[in-house]
Amino acid sequence: MTGFPAHRPRRLRQTPAMRRLVAETRLHPAELVLPLFVKEGIREPQPVPSMPGVVQHTRDSLRKAAHEAVEAGVGGLMLFGIPERKDAVGSGATDPDGILNVAIRDVVGEVGDATVVMADLCLDEFTDHGHCGVLDAAGRVDNDATLERYAEMALAQAEAGAHLVGPSGMMDGQVGVIRSALDEAGHHHVGILAYTAKYASGFYGPFRDAVESSLRGDRLTYQQDPANAAEALRELALDIAEGADIVMVKPAMAYLDIVRLVADAVDVPVAAYQVSGEYAMVEAAAANGWIDRDRVIRETLTGIRRAGASIILTYWAVEVARWLHRER
Ligand code: PBG
Repeated sequence: MTGFPAHRPRRLRQTPAMRRLVAETRLHPAELVLPLFVKEGIREPQPVPSMPGVVQHTRDSLRKAAHEAVEAGVGGLMLFGIPERKDAVGSGATDPDGILNVAIRDVVGEVGDATVVMADLCLDEFTDHGHCGVLDAAGRVDNDATLERYAEMALAQAEAGAHLVGPSGMMDGQVGVIRSALDEAGHHHVGILAYTAKYASGFYGPFRDAVESSLRGDRLTYQQDPANAAEALRELALDIAEGADIVMVKPAMAYLDIVRLVADAVDVPVAAYQVSGEYAMVEAAAANGWIDRDRVIRETLTGIRRAGASIILTYWAVEVARWLHRER
């Protein structure tokens, strides 16, 4: 017979079983990392209005949330602290009794090695000006003075028991300085998840509500310009040379080309952070009945995975992990 297609890709799409058999990308709970917020001095968890379903935890509710995430099989937890008092140098970040360090200790005490406990290593949650570093006399973010603070912060987090530290401030040399500080203090087992290509993004808006950041100005002098891709490769080469164990691209959805570029370039695990604004967009559209929430969540995560990330930070980690378990 002539006139009929010789090739019929639709054959492999006929049934759920056939589609499952040929699926090129699968999600697994173990590759999902849940970001968690903990606030100093509160008695009840506080909802974050721009992130429906996300809360600022108390120390107690954080322990419970960590436990639930482990039960769901989530691969890791990324902790963010919100101190009661902020100051120019972010003192709370390096205080062993500061909220983030206390929370690391609490969570590691609760879940031990059952999941990977990570901490955001950055000053913006702790500074009153909201920048990721300390400022010089002219009000600019002082790279090298900030590195000294990061080194101290890394030690505080390692001493609290963090398995991985996540420098997210985009200071030049941050990975190298943190690696040496950790090694000199005998913490060679503590790894670095480097925010390698972190873009100056509007998608972090809801996060700044979550950590009550009162940023004056913007982060354009340290985070990357959304226009640039080659620059991500430069940052990548530096982070690898300085000792990054895992590299991360952030945000995820508007930067899937960068995820692919990075995944093709290195042999360390690549993570992507589906950030607060990505979460808020989907939740807001779904709340209006404009999209099918669960379907879109799954599609975004599949897209990030397909682009080459083997680890995904997502505020939906526990919910999605539970779906995936049910489907097995
Ligand atoms: C910096 C940090 C930010 C996020 C993670 N780490 C904020 C920023 O760079 O302004 C954003 C995460 C999100 O939006 O979900 N400590």
